[in-house]
Amino acid sequence: MAQAPPEILLVEDKESLRRMLRLALEQGGYAVVEAAGFTDAAAALRDHRPALVLSDLRLGDGDGFGVLRQAKDADPDIPVVVMTAYGGVEDAVRAMREGALDFIAKPVDPDHLLLLAGRAIEQRRLLTENFLLREELAARRGVPHIIGEHESLRKVLQNVQRAAGSDTTILIEGESGTGKELVAHAVHGLSARSNGPFVAINCAAIPENLLETELFGYEKGAFTGAAQRKPGKFEVAHRGTLFLDEIGDMPLALQAKMLRAIEERRFERVGGNAPLQVDVRVVAATNRHLKQMVAAKRFREDLYFRLSVFPIVVPPLRERPTDIPLLAQHFIERFGRDLKKRVTLTPAAIEHLCAYSWPGNIRELQNCLERALILAEGETIQPMHLQLQTISERAASEDTLRDVVTALAANPYAAFDWSGPLADVSRRALNEAEKYRIRQALDEAAGDRARAAEALQVPMRFLQAKIKDFGL
Ligand SMILES: Nc1ncnc2c1ncn2[C@@H]1O[C@H](COP(=O)(O)OP(=O)(O)OP(=O)(O)O)[C@@H](O)[C@H]1O
Ligand SMILES: [Mg+2]
Repeated sequence: MAQAPPEILLVEDKESLRRMLRLALEQGGYAVVEAAGFTDAAAALRDHRPALVLSDLRLGDGDGFGVLRQAKDADPDIPVVVMTAYGGVEDAVRAMREGALDFIAKPVDPDHLLLLAGRAIEQRRLLTENFLLREELAARRGVPHIIGEHESLRKVLQNVQRAAGSDTTILIEGESGTGKELVAHAVHGLSARSNGPFVAINCAAIPENLLETELFGYEKGAFTGAAQRKPGKFEVAHRGTLFLDEIGDMPLALQAKMLRAIEERRFERVGGNAPLQVDVRVVAATNRHLKQMVAAKRFREDLYFRLSVFPIVVPPLRERPTDIPLLAQHFIERFGRDLKKRVTLTPAAIEHLCAYSWPGNIRELQNCLERALILAEGETIQPMHLQLQTISERAASEDTLRDVVTALAANPYAAFDWSGPLADVSRRALNEAEKYRIRQALDEAAGDRARAAEALQVPMRFLQAKIKDFGL
């Protein structure tokens, strides 16, 4: 797709001259928005985001300084070039002091104009690019911008600083979407390892049987299909940081090997027996209650203790409501830049954001604002663009749910499908009862089928067939 030509706002009250300049600019490959005076220009600045403003300093309805100020208000980085009459150098200097990029004397030489316009637009492009590069660099250096000023978040940031100064293993706990990964990046970025790699692995996203080889790598011939030796994340993270995301989902069987790798910084590749020594700092994160998992024997206690040497708990957004407007503003600016939209949040919208409980935390807030920005057609984001279920609406749906629960309590059979011939109803009822009891027995036996079969006093094969039938 061909790129749209850069747009220039041309402000000149003399029609003949405006037409001449317009032609010259269009021949130079620009699109031109014309304005005959200050009022026109102000309106155009509301509807367009020109790449350059070219304005006469003497206008019928006000002067070019007004246009200059209006343009800078709309976007402080917008390049403005003013046109001055012969002898108007003083005005030109004043304009540049007020933020004009350059001036051009009348009568305007079209070639000179094109040269100036080209340079101004290029300069602006580099400025934007520079800004984006700097942001990207900061992100790559791994010191992400963590927004928030609430006391609870400050404590987190203090801990991040302290943790960055050492090589201890860190456990980041927090609900989904609170910024755990961001915190992990910050720890790495602020540490002496920031020039080394930051390697992340999500233990919940990788199938159990692949996780070990992903983490520790394998030797050639370790299993069918292992045609080449492959290094694992632990090796790749040498001299850097290994981020073990969703560590609560790591299978028990692998936890022992993980513990040893963390304690000794030493492990073997799958199918190999030569131990490898690495220099890796481990940062783990979880949105589960590891302590409870330890109590339920679903997480090794020794690994838990090893990980929780330095715990960092990221608070949910609802516990730091004063950060909501700050974060909202940050996201509006970020997405606004991406979408080339300049909008503001109305006070009512901010009130809505603050009243909501954000179960999905910052990620949900981020998504909500991105959507709002896309939906907003004017210059403001209003409550309706947020599409938040208000608290009263939520209470209403909770009320309906409560009604259903109450109805079921009064008549436990209310949810059952009673339609059709008696034989069908009986069969359905029997199935329901069996399914319910088998699931219960399996739970009680912690999934051990032999024990469940014994408790139900049915043959193992019968139980297995039922489990299959019911898809349990
Ligand atoms: N304080 C913050 N300032 C700016 N952006 C933030 C902040 N906290 C989180 N974010 C952004 O919110 C999103 C979710 O954060 P992140 O992925 O770190 O959360 P998480 O706790 O790892 O979530 P999950 O448990 O779902 O993996 C990211 O896009 C992140 O950049
Ligand atoms: Mg995460």
